Amino acid sequence: MNATMYYSDYLQLDKVIDSQEPVSFKEGNIPAHDEMLFIIIHQAYELWFKQILFELDYVLKVFDKQEINDNSEDLNLVLHRLRRIIRIFELLNQQVSILDTMTPLDFLEFRNLLTPSSGFQSTQFRLIEATLGLQMQNRHQSGYYKRTGEGGFNKQDYERINQREAAQNLSQLVNNWLERMPFFEEQFWKNYNPLFHDETTAHVFWNDYRQVYKAGLTERETNKIIDFDYVFFNKIPADATNERLNNLRSSFSAKALRAALFIMLYRDFPVFQTSYQVLDALIEIDHLMSNWRHKHLIMVRRMIGMRVGTGNTSGAGYLEGALNRHYVYRDIAGLSTYLIERRNLPKLPDDLIKYLSFNVG
Ligand code: HEM
Repeated sequence: MNATMYYSDYLQLDKVIDSQEPVSFKEGNIPAHDEMLFIIIHQAYELWFKQILFELDYVLKVFDKQEINDNSEDLNLVLHRLRRIIRIFELLNQQVSILDTMTPLDFLEFRNLLTPSSGFQSTQFRLIEATLGLQMQNRHQSGYYKRTGEGGFNKQDYERINQREAAQNLSQLVNNWLERMPFFEEQFWKNYNPLFHDETTAHVFWNDYRQVYKAGLTERETNKIIDFDYVFFNKIPADATNERLNNLRSSFSAKALRAALFIMLYRDFPVFQTSYQVLDALIEIDHLMSNWRHKHLIMVRRMIGMRVGTGNTSGAGYLEGALNRHYVYRDIAGLSTYLIERRNLPKLPDDLIKYLSFNVG
């Protein structure tokens, strides 16, 4: 045993356990019992945020590589790390119920002492959002978010967030990774037997797929083929309204979305399984963050009703807007709009199957 190693030294508990200083406990104030819980729960969140950022950093590094074999250790580790992030978010969602043991009146005893600080200023939370790929232009009240005045960020945190936003984020790297997928290269499709005589797209597979998809649409859904052409082939419909295009517009390229849909369709091929699970994990992380936003919003409504937040937003109104808009992988999740029944899937050409099988292991 290492004689110099001591539990509390190793964990630096003198720093961690000694870092709670409730303002209401200070001289001149009336001690509010629940302020200790309020501080500890925020600190626990921030520690887990740190771990999430640590895992995300690793994932970014892997996706930053030009070559990632779909069945390599790299991609499996990415999946492992993403799944760890999922578990952490599950825990973070459960933690809200501990805070629920504080009543609105308990909170009122110290709430005014916190102004203008707020969870809004959680730099690590902003770094998680920015690393996952939440774009400025997709934020609810983006002008409000980026500020250094009262209730905003201090200069140093502001810089850190700016730097993170300027660097490549995970969603861009995933986009590039998907774009590099080689499945549609001509060499694999020379011996493919097309099901239809259609040349709407530049690829035999997509011509067939498009026809099968179109045939499967119900009368009320016929417009979806126009969306399909826009989402996967950037074809702008003649009568498209801006609103409709805005709804369909994605931060992922058409090429990347084609690859993602292909992975979802043929996920039963072993070579696609890890890639599919990586996409699924990203969707799950988005989902769990949105769950957290929802739980936090409900808790905030109960705690402060319709009062403004200590960070000076409209409070629950702001949080609701953020909940509705702050998704990153919604377009990947939304690909299920364009799935077809398994039994109607075009049979892949042997050359491609051979290539895919060689890539296993
Ligand atoms: C009594 C408990 C809480 C109340 C009343 C509360 C209230 C609020 C309000 C009103 C906002 C909007 C910004 C503002 O105007 O202040 C906000 C944002 C935020 N809070 Fe809390 N909060 C509580 C607990 C927590 C906890 C435990 C965390 C954990 C870290 C947290 C993290 C955040 C984050 C990250 C935001 C920004 C959300 C976004 O922009 O989407 N809050 N909170």
